[in-house]
Amino acid sequence: MATTTSIRLLVAEDVPQVSQHVRNLLSIQSQVKLLEVFTDGSKVVEATRQLRPDVVMVDLLLQGKVKGPQLIEKLRDSGLDIPVVVLTVPQHPLARDPNRGIDAVLTLPFSGFELVNTLAHVMTDRQSRASGACRVVSVFSPKGGVGKTTIAFNLAVSLSQLGVSTALLDGSLQYGDLRALLKVPDDVPSILDLPTDRVQESDLRDVMWRDPAGIDILLAPPRVEMAEMVTVRDVEKTISILRRLYQAVVIDTPTVLSEVTLAFLDACDVILSIVTYDFTTIHNTVAVGEAFASIGYTAEKVHYLVNRADSSGGISRDELARALGRRPDFEVVSDGRLVVQANNEGMPFVVASPEAAVSRDVRRVAATIAGRTAGAPVRH
Ligand SMILES: Nc1ncnc2c1ncn2[C@@H]1O[C@H](COP(=O)(O)OP(=O)(O)OP(=O)(O)O)[C@@H](O)[C@H]1O
Ligand SMILES: [Mg+2]
Repeated sequence: MATTTSIRLLVAEDVPQVSQHVRNLLSIQSQVKLLEVFTDGSKVVEATRQLRPDVVMVDLLLQGKVKGPQLIEKLRDSGLDIPVVVLTVPQHPLARDPNRGIDAVLTLPFSGFELVNTLAHVMTDRQSRASGACRVVSVFSPKGGVGKTTIAFNLAVSLSQLGVSTALLDGSLQYGDLRALLKVPDDVPSILDLPTDRVQESDLRDVMWRDPAGIDILLAPPRVEMAEMVTVRDVEKTISILRRLYQAVVIDTPTVLSEVTLAFLDACDVILSIVTYDFTTIHNTVAVGEAFASIGYTAEKVHYLVNRADSSGGISRDELARALGRRPDFEVVSDGRLVVQANNEGMPFVVASPEAAVSRDVRRVAATIAGRTAGAPVRH
């Protein structure tokens, strides 16, 4: 993951002298890493999706099938949410306009200092907006049946009770766990009813299911075989719009680490990794934690929640902490009677029995997440 000392840059530039100028400026510094220069605008969106740069620089005067202004528009509509710096010349002045996908403008000739400063600025600006305005939390576990859906649902409701506008996304695309939990009829729209290419805020509002508990839910498709119709691109685009509409988004993810699950995990700010006092669950959680580290997820991104924390099955807290390499961030106790009954009624237990220990535990998780949601009014 990028830090302020390492900015990964992708450039769309078809004038060799200009790309050489940029290369020269970057060759004498270490803060920006130039990934690649594309002379053909039609390849840039796909390359951006693959290479995941922190910033894309586009020459406004780029020629060819996809010209500069079109490319800027395509990048904006791609849902990738990567800032774009537009390069221009004094004869073609241009103003910064984030709504049109222009996060900053650099006018030739510019110095190395200006170049690096501009790139660093747009990147930190995007990061602070992403981490400040809306928290996206993926509830995940590499083991089934540990309580992901239960925790995701009750966490989303608790966030909304704290005054944080919250969306819940049913990422368990094959089985649609939330659809089943809430007994939502099959004809209620799902993520698949969003237009494939140009999802807009209004489209999303039309397909969200409003749960009586006060949260908006984007459901999974009603049938197992429909899950594979949901693409990585749909996921990225949907989450980037949900970020604009809500202060928090909670995602119930499936156990399998597919491309689409990884898209959920990539796009979120916090992975709430659910673990229980069960040997295989701990083993898989450690293994996946190592995989997360190797793909660049920071330790701050991954939070551990011990579910049924009072059912230790002979494993001590210290042993669990040693296996995970740190103390878990949260604990939620077991309450078979309340949780199972509430789930069977499609009711959040935090509403059915707010004073129960299990409800207080989930509210504590919500309060921590809400505390990081800048500007969220917290009702006491
Ligand atoms: N803290 C808890 N106390 C008691 N029962 C719980 C608790 N958390 C979850 N459960 C129960 O555990 C079962 C599995 O929960 P849930 O369906 O939420 O898990 P999951 O991880 O989403 O499963 P899957 O992998 O199938 O998606 C349910 O019957 C639920 O009621
Ligand atoms: Mg589930």
